[in-house]
Amino acid sequence: MKEVYEIDDLANRTLLDAGADRPARLAVFGQPIAHSASPRMHQAALDADGIAARYIRIEVPPGRVGEALGRMRDLGFIGCNITVPHKLEVMGVCDEVDPAARALGAVNTVRFDADGTRGFNTDGPGFAAAVRETLGLELRGLRVAILGAGGGAGRALAAQCVLSGVERVLLVNRTVSKLDELEKHLGALGSGSDLRLMDFSDPGLAESCRDCGLIVNASSVGLKAGDPALLPDSCFTPGQGVYDCIYQPPVTPLLAAALACGCRVANGRSMLIHQGALAYRLWFPGRDPLLTMAAALG
Ligand code: ATR
Repeated sequence: MKEVYEIDDLANRTLLDAGADRPARLAVFGQPIAHSASPRMHQAALDADGIAARYIRIEVPPGRVGEALGRMRDLGFIGCNITVPHKLEVMGVCDEVDPAARALGAVNTVRFDADGTRGFNTDGPGFAAAVRETLGLELRGLRVAILGAGGGAGRALAAQCVLSGVERVLLVNRTVSKLDELEKHLGALGSGSDLRLMDFSDPGLAESCRDCGLIVNASSVGLKAGDPALLPDSCFTPGQGVYDCIYQPPVTPLLAAALACGCRVANGRSMLIHQGALAYRLWFPGRDPLLTMAAALG
């Protein structure tokens, strides 16, 4: 058994399952992948449900996503999760992509059905469930600011907000020109949400952020020690919800600043759990792995 498998390990069952008491039938793949918490959550749920299957990590380089999926399918996998940097590439190699996943511009979950390979996105609905659970907020009718809206995660969350019928999305990105295409895409989703674009130096940023019921960090700022808070205190207002998709560290400088200003805050742990639980339920309808997954994550 390996901590991280490679695409060549998907050659046959003898190689893949050497030393294991159960067959690998689910996986997460990306590059890098060694850090992924998904196996911990999913294996706990499989074990709790008495399903004799392993959930493994596979390192897959860009350009080989179609090959990886084909090999898994041939080996009788149930499905897989896909993480950075493959969420876009995988859309092109599924037989069918769920319309919501297409709107979000990314696939993070695949199910191998008898009649084809189907792609889904549970990050967006997982985010909606996470803000409901941790902050008590419904996206419908809300005004939401998304920081780092030009990145892959930010684009998907902005689309989820629009699909969920938010009143307004304030798209904030360091490089505002990166938002033009996203604005067109969101507009074409036709929900009627008000779209506003800004960079972090816009003089109207503070007022526009205070005017939002929810501020979301979808950028990578806050991951590294020494990262700044991303927004000045003038952007926060007491009672406002502030969600950081980062979960390590658990309190980013943004969340610490927001807390000090009287905001209600939550980190990305809840989104990680909800996206995982939703993926599991696509493979095993009717199951409810949420509590098991949360406990397994620690
Ligand atoms: P992807 O998710 O597509 O891989 P990324 O390059 O990792 O994207 O960037 C994620 C987001 O973090 C982007 O919105 C990026 O802003 P730019 O589009 O302007 O590059 C944002 N980001 C990264 N470092 C940042 C910083 N120091 N300040 C503000 N935003 C930053």
